[in-house]
Amino acid sequence: MSNGFETLAIHAGQEPDPLTGAVVPPIYATSTYKQDGVGGLRSGYEYSRSANPTRTALEEALAAVEGGARGLAFASGLAAEDTLLRTVCKPQDHVIIPNDAYGGTYRLFAKVHERWDLHYDPVPLHDLDAVAAAMTQKTRVVWVETPTNPLLGVADIAALARLAHDNGALLVVDNTFASPYLQQPLALGADVVVHSTTKYVGGHSDVVGGALVAANAGIGEELAYHQNAMGGVAGPFDAWLTLRGLKTLGVRMDRHCDNAERVVDLLLAHPRVTEVLYPGLPEHPGHEIAAKQMRRFGGMVSFRVAGGEAEAVAVCDRAKLFTLGESLGGVESLIEHPGRMTHASAAGSPLEVPADLVRLSVGIETIDDLLADLSQALAG
Ligand SMILES: Cc1ncc(COP(=O)(O)O)c(C=O)c1O
Repeated sequence: MSNGFETLAIHAGQEPDPLTGAVVPPIYATSTYKQDGVGGLRSGYEYSRSANPTRTALEEALAAVEGGARGLAFASGLAAEDTLLRTVCKPQDHVIIPNDAYGGTYRLFAKVHERWDLHYDPVPLHDLDAVAAAMTQKTRVVWVETPTNPLLGVADIAALARLAHDNGALLVVDNTFASPYLQQPLALGADVVVHSTTKYVGGHSDVVGGALVAANAGIGEELAYHQNAMGGVAGPFDAWLTLRGLKTLGVRMDRHCDNAERVVDLLLAHPRVTEVLYPGLPEHPGHEIAAKQMRRFGGMVSFRVAGGEAEAVAVCDRAKLFTLGESLGGVESLIEHPGRMTHASAAGSPLEVPADLVRLSVGIETIDDLLADLSQALAG
């Protein structure tokens, strides 16, 4: 019998504790494990960098909800990304990245891996011809974000997977914005899914974490080897919090989407908003693809305002219920100015974002309160 998404999120990897029957996997705050004689490991646990039962529970649940062979939990999204790159790439390889990638991902390529001779090209991923043209014999990975942060661009995962595989490359999808509830990249042909679990998976802005989920056991094993060898693992307390968040991902995402749709309606009707970026809008250039590969369109909304950067910053400053802050995907609504905040590291690069852009992470508060706050923030 195959289980539905919410059942997996609540039960996969989370059998009641064999010792006590505790229905919630305990926080195993231990670095090491007693061995029954040299090499006599109990359930395979020897040292918590290599494996810890709380982390195992999270990793099995993540693999289940993404439909993958192996899940791995890290200290942050960027720790997961770094581990992935150093597992599947070697010096002189080439990676295609989105031309509006998350700023931290761009910085990882531009400032860290470039020094180790890993080359990259930012490409508009909605343009399959441009992706094909950017492929070289050294292209090892096509790195996809969809929807993208913060411009909400959409890329066709299935088409990019075919293109990558025809060229002997892997397709990696950062599924942070959609979450596994709204989008399942592995089923569309991706090889590895990346998450900043800090965002929707954790869902409560109380923990930083990352994850990799591999489609096949071979890559999963290589990633697990590097996870242990490099050491960027999630600690047991963080794993426990993330797992607690994951259980309610489905119901939270539905409310995030409901609220985001209402926010989009308000913004569309507002005279001081010049453009609304949301994949759920029929006029969004990626709408059809998003409708094909996503269950719904998510809780992230970006918009541009008349009056340029000064007005975009002022809107962020005037918002009250929408908290001014970086990050996204928590139950509380956040507002930010990507140009000066999350994406400041992309300033002056091809990934620089428009100065009049405001990004919202629409939370699950009472929708009328959110709409009232946005109205007053826009009114000035
Ligand atoms: C799309 C995306 N990927 C990766 C990351 C990096 O994750 P973390 O901050 O957990 O290292 C972020 C963080 O904002 C993100 O938005």
